[in-house]
Amino acid sequence: MSEPPEDLLHCLRAARRVVALTGAGMSAESGVPTFRAAQTGLWARFDPMDLATPEAFDRDPVRVWQWYAWRRELVGRVAPNAGHRALADWGRRAHVTIVTQNVDGLHQQAGSAEVIELHGNLRRSVCSAGCGVQSPGAGEPPPCPQCGAPLRPDVVWFGELLPEGALESAMAVVQAADLVLSVGSSNQVQPAAELPFLALRNGCPVAEVNPEATPLSAQADWSLRGTAAALLPRLAAAASRRGAESDE
Ligand code: OAD
Repeated sequence: MSEPPEDLLHCLRAARRVVALTGAGMSAESGVPTFRAAQTGLWARFDPMDLATPEAFDRDPVRVWQWYAWRRELVGRVAPNAGHRALADWGRRAHVTIVTQNVDGLHQQAGSAEVIELHGNLRRSVCSAGCGVQSPGAGEPPPCPQCGAPLRPDVVWFGELLPEGALESAMAVVQAADLVLSVGSSNQVQPAAELPFLALRNGCPVAEVNPEATPLSAQADWSLRGTAAALLPRLAAAASRRGAESDE
């Protein structure tokens, strides 16, 4: 993409409420593996049914805990990329809400203030018996200090509901948006995958940023083939030229 298309530029400059829906591709250029890439994706190398379900945790809590400990250590070593930073900078100049499926906390680390986490956060742990959020102590997994049940990562597993209120908040911001970006998601996992379509049904323009096609691509107003770190700084820069234009 040399320059964003003219009608997208216009939309970027005019938008008052922007929502960025982000998935694993958002963090790929930080060095965090995605889930569905053919060779390198986590679900190509590991079976999610052994690692990312409540039943897997009941069967083998040590294995599940260790796998998430490995991922936690991995995201602890990496830094936000130019795409995260562009969204954070844009959010300081305009109303930008992030709705993320990512559990790595990199948007917050980049400085984004409004982040709705649909799938939890790898850096937190919670009592698996449901008695309250706790920080991890020693043990694999450590016991809940209140009830002794094993702690688990505070992430959403297959077959589980999203954190209370997260989907409702996400739907509300999408319905109030005048531009939605879908960045780095294969748009295959519900209910998150439905959010860009909700925007389209409301007549809100949707731009997709992804090097590959997804089920959203054909319906999005703009399907931009490129990476988050390459394209988001350009989109954010184009949006910020709004002020300059309105001064003319
Ligand atoms: P996926 O791994 O399914 O999809 C990642 C998407 O990012 C693909 O469409 C890639 O083409 C795209 N991509 C790769 N590199 C990129 C880059 N540098 N810039 C932009 N896009 C890039 O990841 P998600 O859609 O996030 O859920 O997966 C959704 C959920 O499935 C995850 O939250 C996780 C997983 O199971 C749970 O664990 C509950």
